[in-house]
Amino acid sequence: MKIAVFGATGRTGVLFVHQAVQENLYVKLYCRPQSLSKLGSLKSNEFVEIIEGEFDDDFTPVIQGVDVVLSFLGPGFSWPSNNPLEKVMIKIMETMRKERVTRFLTMGTGSITDSLDRNWYKMRTCVFIVSSFARNAYNDIVAVGNLFKSGQYDDLKWTIVRVGILKNANEPTGRIHVGYIGDDEASIFTERADWAKFVLTEISEEKWIRKLPYLSSV
Ligand SMILES: NC(=O)c1ccc[n+]([C@@H]2O[C@H](COP(=O)([O-])OP(=O)(O)OC[C@H]3O[C@@H](n4cnc5c(N)ncnc54)[C@H](OP(=O)(O)O)[C@@H]3O)[C@@H](O)[C@H]2O)c1
Repeated sequence: MKIAVFGATGRTGVLFVHQAVQENLYVKLYCRPQSLSKLGSLKSNEFVEIIEGEFDDDFTPVIQGVDVVLSFLGPGFSWPSNNPLEKVMIKIMETMRKERVTRFLTMGTGSITDSLDRNWYKMRTCVFIVSSFARNAYNDIVAVGNLFKSGQYDDLKWTIVRVGILKNANEPTGRIHVGYIGDDEASIFTERADWAKFVLTEISEEKWIRKLPYLSSV
């Protein structure tokens, strides 16, 4: 299996790539040249192929020939108002259609809602803070959610993995809850390593196709 990864130089992306190569999976990483050093020893790993580029470039070289596409990309606090993440999602999925690649897993947050969510003051508070102090990031992530929920990419097998406040355990804790916001068992935190491991598992299990699970570490 070959996996294309966007956001591989991020903290979760690097954890994911380490886990993937340990399982002898081939990964094609799309990275900004100035960020390659964040990959450390992965740069010379036999299972790793690196394609350098920016959001404006053609995504065909990274998506061509893979079985699955992943994105750990997300907006930061300082983020432009023209929804760059939504534009990247559209470009990835249009390229997937062209290259006949169907499986896509991408990052989401509690700012994206699902009809199966329940009212939960902890998540409401987080979303209120983000929407108040990082308005552009909030608008972009909501636009991404609406893009998927609109059904216009339902020919693809997409999954939005919604995560909570991210934490930094190096290894997966294995204590996760996958469900919906407001579930009794859910927590407000997600370990990056648990997120990476969940994505690796979901690639083969395909339990959450065209769904928006909320993943938390409990
Ligand atoms: N912090 C939280 O509690 C929290 C909670 C929920 C969701 N999130 C989201 O989850 C995402 C992943 O988390 P993380 O901690 O693993 O992220 P991270 O370490 O901040 O990494 C973000 C990744 O996105 C890439 N990226 C960001 N802006 C880009 C741009 N304009 N052009 C190209 N690449 C860009 C970065 O590339 P470079 O390495 O080249 O910079 C990096 O690979 C975050 O982006 C965030 O939006 C965060």
